[in-house]
Formats: sequence, structure tokens, C-alpha cells
Amino acid sequence: MLLPIFCLLAQASAQKQLDWWETTVFYQIYPRSFKDSNGDGIGDLNGITSQLEYLKELGIGATWLSPIFKSPMYDFGYDISDFYAIQDEYGTMEDFGNLLAKAKELDIKIILDFVPNHGSNESVWFEEALKGHEKYYDYFMWEDGVVDENGNLQPPNNWVSVFRKSAWEYREEVGKYYLHQFVIGQPDLNYRNPVVVEEMKNVIRFWLDKGVAGFRVDAINHLFEVDKELFGGKYPDEPRTGDEDPDSYGYVDHIYTRDQDETYDMVYQWRDVLDEYKASDGFTRVMMTEAYASPQLTMRYFGEGDRLGSQMPFNFALISNVNGKSSANEIKYAIDQFLTFKPVDKLANWVAGNHDQSRVASRYSPELVDGMNMIVLLLPGIAVTYMGEEIGMVDGFVSWEDTVDPSGCNTDDPINYVQSSRDPERTPFQWSADKNAGFSTADKTWLPVADGYETLNVEVQRNTDRSHLNVYKSLVQLRGELAFTHGRYESVALNSDVFAFRRWYNGENYVVVVNFREEQFTVDLTYFENVVGDLEVTVSNIQSPKAKGTIVQADRLEIFGSESLVLKVK
Ligand SMILES: *[C@@H]1O[C@H](CO)[C@@H](O)[C@H](O)[C@H]1NC(C)=O
Repeated sequence: MLLPIFCLLAQASAQKQLDWWETTVFYQIYPRSFKDSNGDGIGDLNGITSQLEYLKELGIGATWLSPIFKSPMYDFGYDISDFYAIQDEYGTMEDFGNLLAKAKELDIKIILDFVPNHGSNESVWFEEALKGHEKYYDYFMWEDGVVDENGNLQPPNNWVSVFRKSAWEYREEVGKYYLHQFVIGQPDLNYRNPVVVEEMKNVIRFWLDKGVAGFRVDAINHLFEVDKELFGGKYPDEPRTGDEDPDSYGYVDHIYTRDQDETYDMVYQWRDVLDEYKASDGFTRVMMTEAYASPQLTMRYFGEGDRLGSQMPFNFALISNVNGKSSANEIKYAIDQFLTFKPVDKLANWVAGNHDQSRVASRYSPELVDGMNMIVLLLPGIAVTYMGEEIGMVDGFVSWEDTVDPSGCNTDDPINYVQSSRDPERTPFQWSADKNAGFSTADKTWLPVADGYETLNVEVQRNTDRSHLNVYKSLVQLRGELAFTHGRYESVALNSDVFAFRRWYNGENYVVVVNFREEQFTVDLTYFENVVGDLEVTVSNIQSPKAKGTIVQADRLEIFGSESLVLKVK
């Protein structure tokens, strides 16, 4: 008699126990634009600390911060001159301690941005290198120039920077060129030097010791370059693509500067460092890796054989592969990609925006903000939200005169810079309808506030029943149900404009329907198994006339233009 009862109990609690990072929502803060506490027009650490309760209100369990480290700001903090120090305009180490303490009190994990590919041309390391200090000279990637037929010195080869023009910069002090895959102020670090490898592991340890819960790893697929010893000691040209503009990053195919095998191994080594900490206290530190790469290459960051890597190789499909003009079929295809290629025992992750990409309201449409949040938050796996996507912020207009992003400035094109500039998605966070959207009391903020802040702000939306903010909060809550934490997934393009997916676990059964067009349709959701009869509206986008609790029929759902719904099978 004992056995069956035991089995019953075992079954009732049979669902897999999930670790903190497997169910939480990660919220990306761009510190420069989140909240300014001292009125200089630039966001800072004390500003973040003062608003951590807001993250709690959203239901967020972890936040990753774009770089807060000492930097001359040629690439707004992604050019780090001291990996062990806080940038003055963001605050002090003590402020960072206060942020960590407050976050701990609220049970919000803090993730820092680890930028391993490059340092800064204004760092002690680089300055020492220029003085001929051998240790630091070997921290960077140096190469002799070549003399052309006119006797002029030219860069070593045809490698191009992500931010345009040659990836090589000459330094008279040493008579050589250094490699910078990003801006001139970001000299690449030399990972074939074991001292650099150890130094960067120490950077990881330094911040883990302070209590951070892990790292978002920047531009990881650029980490290694090909071993030049395989090419007679000189870095080879990369093959041409057919692009005619020699200054354009697309001019060459980056087979020697991106996605090198050694890169994955380094990620596994960093995971070992994180896991040493876990071994001592049982708490999992996470790594989220940024690589715009094919799905096959992206999956390599998870690990290989018995080596473990990143828990979250960012899935950029909703950023790179589709937008508001995409068909429902293309949306389904983009979503299926990561799910198809990922190892069966790993989790997917979903992200629709970040500090490098046009905002969801601009790239999809303002009407699709809630629908995209439904997709990001309710698909199987980890969700990541870029600050402001929960209130439907739009790309800001930043004039050529006000443009500061090197990606925009380096176009030298006062008309078309907009396509390259990342300033529009970095405009100040919109807290209220007050001056500077409540971001700062300064007369001028580092970037102007975007349009629409009078309504696209936290305060107004908090007090409006049907608002993006309140939809977002409902979705975060809903995400905690077993159908979403543990449930299975199935999706379909009901026609070329309406995408739907089902999540279910035991008796719980939900369908999410998103109409990507402005036309109205009648769709039949009985395509899905066990979806019949009455369905109850659990969440609807703010344009939807269907309030929470409305009953609709599974076999003939009238879906309005740009409507998105979460429906529960009764
Ligand atoms: C560092 O690089 C930037 C360009 O990114 C340049 O403007 C600056 O003058 C350089 N600093 C030094 C000390 O070479």
C-alpha cells in the first residue's frame, strides 16, 4: 500500500526544480540613461539604486548593467581604461556597494558587462605599452605596416573596423600598428598571451568577490584572431565580399577576426571561474554572451563535450531576422530557429531590444509593443527586457549636432547617420511627464529625451488601467505559472499575418495570438490540440477592445488589427 501513495506524491511534485536564472526576467539597464541622481544630465549608480524598487514592481529578478567602469567614453563605456574601477560620472566604489546592498535586500541580482575583447588607448596598460614596457606591450596586438609603391606606410592588411575604416592604427612611439576591431580608442587585447588571460580572469574574480551574480559578455565572437604563425608570422588579408566600399565593415568576410575556435574555449574557461564560486557557496553565477552569429555558432557558447559555457548565448532572432513588416510565417521561422538548434538540455532565451538596436516600438510598431512583450515573456526559456520596452518607448530623434555615438559620427554623413547611430535607442528613460521625463534635473541631458514621453512614462502608465506597463506586469506574473515555467510549446502561423502559440502543462492550457497587421481576421484556434470551446482573455494589448475576463470562442476568434491576446482555455 505504501508504494502507490509514494508514487502519487512523487508525481505531484515531479516538475523539475529550476534555478533562479532559469525563470527570472533579466532587465537591461543602460546606466548613462536610466536615472541621474546628481543633476549632471548623465545617469549614475545612485540613480539606479534609487529606482531598484521599480524593477521589483515589474517583477524583475535580475538586471544587467551596460559598463560602469572607468572609461574615456570614446564608445560610451565599452572602451574601458580601468577594469577594476568605477567611472567618476557614474559614482564611486562605495556607491556600487550601496547598489549591491539595496539589490540584495530586494533580491535582485546584479549582472555586470564584461568587455573582454579590448581595452582603452587611454589606459595605464596601453600607455605603458607605448613606453616599451614589455609586459603591457604584449597585452595588445601589434603588427608592422607595409610600404606601398609610393613609399608610404600602409596598414598591415585589409581588416576593417566594425565602426568603419582600417582596423589598424599606427603609433609612432613603437613604430607599429595596433589592432582595434572597434573604435581607435579600443585596442584589441591579445588572448594568445597567457598573462592577459589571467588578468581578465582576475577582473571576473574581482567583481564576483564584490557580490555580482554574473556577467553579460560583450562582442565575444571577436575575441580571437587567427594565429598568424599559420601564415608565416603575418596576419593575412580577409577575402573580399564584393562590397565596393573599402571603409565598410562588409568589405571583407571576417574569417580571421571572428568566430575563431579558441574563442569558445575561453568562454568555457570563464565558466570554470564562475563555477568555482558556485562550488564554494552553491549559488549559480551566470554568463550571457553577445555574439551576432549563425545559430550553429551561437550554440557552441553553451559548451562542448563535458565543458560548460554560457548559460545564455543571446538569441538575436527577434532583432536580426524579423521586424514589424515580417509575415507570421517569418516570425514563426525566426522563433523556431533557436529552439531547433539548441541542445535539448539547455534553455532558450528571448530578447527583442538592447542598447545597440532600434526600439521595438520603432522596429515593429507602437501597436505591437505588448504583443512582442507577450512573445518575449511567454515563450519557453529566459526573457530579457531592454529598459523602456515595458513602457513602449520609441527611438528618440537625435540631430546630427547632438549625435555622439561613434557608429553615427564615423559615417561623416549628416543625412544618413541615423541608420548607423545607436543614440536613438539610448535616450533617457522616461519616468514621468516632468522636465527631462523625470530622468534628470539638468538643463541639458547627454542625449535629448525622445518624443511621446508625456504618456510613454512610468508614472502615467502606472496610473492608467490599460497601459503597456500594466500589461508587462501581468505578463511577468503570468510567466510564473507552470504552463510557462515548465510547459510545452507549439506554434503556428494561422495565416500570413497572425501568429499564435500554445503553452501547456498538465491541465493548464494557454494560447497567445498576435496579429501583426492592421487588418481584422477571424481565426480558428482549434488547430491546437485541446483548445476548444470557451477561452478567457487573460491579458490583451492596450488597443484591444477585449477586457480581461472576456470570453471568446476557440473556433472563431475575431482578432482586430494589431491585436494581441493571451487566452486561457477554460
Ligand atoms: C584614443 O583614441 C581616440 C579615438 O577613438 C582619439 O580621439 C584619442 O586622441 C586617442 N587618445 C590617445 C591618448 O591617443
